[in-house]
Amino acid sequence: MPVTVPASLSSFSTLFVFLIFANAVVLVAPKSTIEPCSNSNSCNALLGYTLYTDLKVSEVASLFQIDPISLLTSNAIDISYPDVENHILPSQLFLKVPITCSCVDGIRKSVSTRYKTRPSDTLSFISDSIYAGLVSSDQIREANSISDPSVLDVGQNLVVPLPCTCFNGTDNSLPAIYLSYVVKPVDTLAGIASRYTTTITDLMNVNAMGSSAINPGDIIAVPLPACASNFPRYASDNGLIVPNGSYAITASHCVQCSCGPGNLKLYCMPASLAVSCSSMQCRNSNLMLGNVTAQQSSAGCNVSACGYGGFVNGSIVTMLSTSLQPRCPGVQQFPPLIAPPTTVIKDPTLAPAPAPQSEVAGSPTSSVVPSTSSLPRFNPAGGPAGSASGVSAARSLMNPIDILPAVATLLLFVKLMIFHSS
Ligand SMILES: *[C@@H]1O[C@H](CO)[C@@H](O)[C@H](O)[C@H]1NC(C)=O
Ligand SMILES: *[C@@H]1O[C@H](CO)[C@@H](O)[C@H](O)[C@H]1NC(C)=O
Ligand SMILES: *[C@@H]1O[C@H](CO)[C@@H](O)[C@H](O)[C@H]1NC(C)=O
Ligand SMILES: *[C@@H]1O[C@H](CO)[C@@H](O)[C@H](O)[C@H]1NC(C)=O
Ligand SMILES: *[C@@H]1O[C@H](CO)[C@@H](O)[C@H](O)[C@H]1NC(C)=O
Repeated sequence: MPVTVPASLSSFSTLFVFLIFANAVVLVAPKSTIEPCSNSNSCNALLGYTLYTDLKVSEVASLFQIDPISLLTSNAIDISYPDVENHILPSQLFLKVPITCSCVDGIRKSVSTRYKTRPSDTLSFISDSIYAGLVSSDQIREANSISDPSVLDVGQNLVVPLPCTCFNGTDNSLPAIYLSYVVKPVDTLAGIASRYTTTITDLMNVNAMGSSAINPGDIIAVPLPACASNFPRYASDNGLIVPNGSYAITASHCVQCSCGPGNLKLYCMPASLAVSCSSMQCRNSNLMLGNVTAQQSSAGCNVSACGYGGFVNGSIVTMLSTSLQPRCPGVQQFPPLIAPPTTVIKDPTLAPAPAPQSEVAGSPTSSVVPSTSSLPRFNPAGGPAGSASGVSAARSLMNPIDILPAVATLLLFVKLMIFHSS
């Protein structure tokens, strides 16, 4: 190896060579978090994606081969807006893109995205612009065994491997979904932590970082608090997890579930999209999916709820539950919806997370708590402040090994030694 090591350190030279080599690798390749996995289960994850140009909702969805409605609900964008799938989203808008995270060769990644090359595409344009740094040219080259990257056939269907993590759907034992976030030049770890209401320590732990330094292009995994579902394994929407402040659409567009803002309990109800759906009434009751009735008694509040139990064989499973609770539940609150964005609000970078909408729910003493029917309408007061407003890009940083902090510390030590001895 053409690495010279001071004689005084020769007894450690093998280690040094390894460390210097490791250092070089760390400096050259953008970091991203690597999560080992053993089974073939897939899970849900999010990509932080910044639009490289104006794109229709449906165009963004087709870049990732996902359902446009899911893209909208993940970003709490009002789907009742007329012709919303053809709405043009502005360049530089930041979106959370819901994807399926698989386990491939023992590592979590998303491999369901294909890109059909167009005239004048280059690998770096595809990776840096179209997929906004979520993938590198080398990764596309390797995934597709491209020997000569200068020759891309038009119409070639390229596999676009994308970073994702799941960590069992939890963070510090609480339900969480992970956003793969591409670090921008203006970003600091503290800024990212504050924007996503987490802590520097948590981000460092999740990403096995030895220091809080981040570089543009790194991809870090950001845990977002979420509402977990508990659908059976045989349900097609098993593992559904909805981040706080957003919605998900499931059961062939028949059911919509929301998370937050008041608590992190998944709340599902009929979706307002006009489609034919199987029955959403709970058996042996007159309650529909999402209905909650509450009856105050001397012993407490007798709460009956018709909940959603997953989509099984094309049928919507409903579950009636009754429980005696100390207090009657308030009116169901929903995350504020935003209108489809037409402009990008700059500057969320210095500001902490957008102020939550405060809509006080009464604490009804009445016997029936009607759940609001249909999708809550766009509330102008919510403004375009939510998750879609940022210019932040998400990338997930996967440090393959937990020993990285130790390596970094050792490196520093070694560098000092070399400095001193020269
Ligand atoms: C993953 O989560 C499930 C419940 O969601 C739990 O039973 C299991 O122990 C967790 N596994 C790990 C490795 O944390
Ligand atoms: C969920 O989001 C709401 C509104 O943004 C916020 O007030 C609340 O603290 C969040 N909950 C958690 C657990 O992060
Ligand atoms: C609670 O309400 C349900 C349905 O209204 C009823 O069947 C049940 O007996 C009630 N339980 C109590 C403890 O009042
Ligand atoms: C779903 O349908 C298939 C065949 O129609 C059946 O074998 C299977 O048991 C069903 N699953 C459930 C959970 O009902
Ligand atoms: C039950 O849910 C349906 C559908 O969401 C809604 O139209 C109805 O008003 C609800 N009824 C009660 C009593 O909550």
